[in-house]
Amino acid sequence: MATVAIIGGTGLARMEGLEIKGREMIKTPYGAPSCPIIYGELNKLPIVFLARHGHTHKIPPHRVNYCANIWALQSIGIKKIIAVGAVGGISEECTTGSIVIPDQIIDYTTGRVNTFYDGMPDEVRHVDFSYPYDEHVRDALIKSGSALGADVITHGTYGATQGPHLETIAEINRMERDGCTIVGMTGMPEAVLARELDMAYACCGVVVNAAAGKGAGVISMEEINDGIDRGMKTARGVIEGAVKVL
Ligand code: HPA
Repeated sequence: MATVAIIGGTGLARMEGLEIKGREMIKTPYGAPSCPIIYGELNKLPIVFLARHGHTHKIPPHRVNYCANIWALQSIGIKKIIAVGAVGGISEECTTGSIVIPDQIIDYTTGRVNTFYDGMPDEVRHVDFSYPYDEHVRDALIKSGSALGADVITHGTYGATQGPHLETIAEINRMERDGCTIVGMTGMPEAVLARELDMAYACCGVVVNAAAGKGAGVISMEEINDGIDRGMKTARGVIEGAVKVL
């Protein structure tokens, strides 16, 4: 039985090389997950794959049902999650095509349901979130990346924004002063919900563009799509290697 799940983001709605064994739409108390969960084998290893934005990429970051997705994965026995996400690079070393395995998060999202412990009639629980990502899963991604000779940045702070629009230059400058090294729209509340359900979770951030004000000119969708094509190829290799270790 699979205990490792990959949550695929923009540019990774399906996992090449995944031998599909089954699909299941899981009912949850929080509504429907983004799409049916895929059971499969990656290099003969059992894994589960969930496309965060749906298989046809129709669900924007602020409309993803993060609670349903995470609850669904836990309900089928998943213990470890590799969450893939396209990000913008804020710090200089986070260039397009590089892979960042962040170790911290700052949450700038608003109005998203960010807990399973919502009070009455349920219990109140305050989970520790000092270290938002699981070190073992992070390590697997980092080791896999270095074995491949990929451009992997082993630490960083993921700034999670509400979207769906990209940020202003002032916002990115503020995030930089806050210590953010990358920016994305899906890192939260996904990470904290996984923590609340005691699942080991790490992010594989794929830098697909320079964040606002950090590149030449404004950000175009062509630039982002090019970045996705470049970065997701590397990400696939990194994920495959990490799954072997996990
Ligand atoms: N900002 C926010 N989210 C993103 C970006 C960005 O520049 N690029 C990819 N996801």
